[in-house]
Amino acid sequence: MENRFIFELLGDFRIRFFHAAVPPARKPTATVHVVDSMPTDHLPEGDQKRQAVRSMFDTIAPRYDLVNRIMTFRMDVGLRRKTMKVADFEPSSTVLDLAAGTGDFCIELEKGGHRAIGVDLSYGMLAAARTGAPLVQGDLLALPFPDGSVDGAVCGYALRNLVELPAFFDELGRVIRPGGRIGLLDVSRPDSRLLRSGYDIYFNRVVPKIGAALSDAAAYDYLPRSLSYLPDREEMVAMLRRTGFTDAEHRQLQGGLSQLLSATKD
Ligand SMILES: C[S@@+](CC[C@H](N)C(=O)[O-])C[C@H]1O[C@@H](n2cnc3c(N)ncnc32)[C@H](O)[C@@H]1O
Repeated sequence: MENRFIFELLGDFRIRFFHAAVPPARKPTATVHVVDSMPTDHLPEGDQKRQAVRSMFDTIAPRYDLVNRIMTFRMDVGLRRKTMKVADFEPSSTVLDLAAGTGDFCIELEKGGHRAIGVDLSYGMLAAARTGAPLVQGDLLALPFPDGSVDGAVCGYALRNLVELPAFFDELGRVIRPGGRIGLLDVSRPDSRLLRSGYDIYFNRVVPKIGAALSDAAAYDYLPRSLSYLPDREEMVAMLRRTGFTDAEHRQLQGGLSQLLSATKD
């Protein structure tokens, strides 16, 4: 009943910014590094990373969609559709769009007849969202939803931005009901040497220039560097299996330029 009440509330009143009862980001203390933008000389960890990621997405939010579409040649749209196809949610499912950003997955989920709820750390990204789905400001490592309360979740291009992947997978395992499905999409560096050299030139040299010209140089310099946060595919699958998704699978898409993790909650 409690879960139903929360979702009715979110659905009926179309609350766009439901500030989660979770601390959005810790206030800086003497031991926390305060960062206004993404450092260019190192990859931050822990609180410094959370804060830098949040501030970076707040900064780039107004032009995020434009730069994204140019950078991916609109292929991101098809990849989200592929993610939903692989996730294969039951009709009229309640599905979380985790790290929803400007809400592209929410739009696809609603087109597919599902009830979408977006969650993101950055108010800037949520404010730039183009979806009518309810949006929640919160951290993926402390999801503001009761145990087993949703039928599924998708996550687009955010795994490498999280402070801790196992804690996120634990949260997924907690909020998704048994039998519920997940689809987690992110970029990837291809295995093929030929594609990898094309990838390196494009992401290390071209993308930062496009980002600097249209948006924020530090943010689009971070993008290719952030891939090194991700563990290899076997390790991510093993982590998911340990958290109650024993059928977890990894797929490479576009010759390895993208990767998709999918699984069912035991
Ligand atoms: C590259 S954007 C992707 C947005 C969207 N999913 C898409 O497919 O375009 C990554 C998003 O992850 C969000 N994010 C990063 N860390 C997060 C966290 N710990 N909790 C919630 N959202 C987070 C950022 O604010 C940003 O909106």
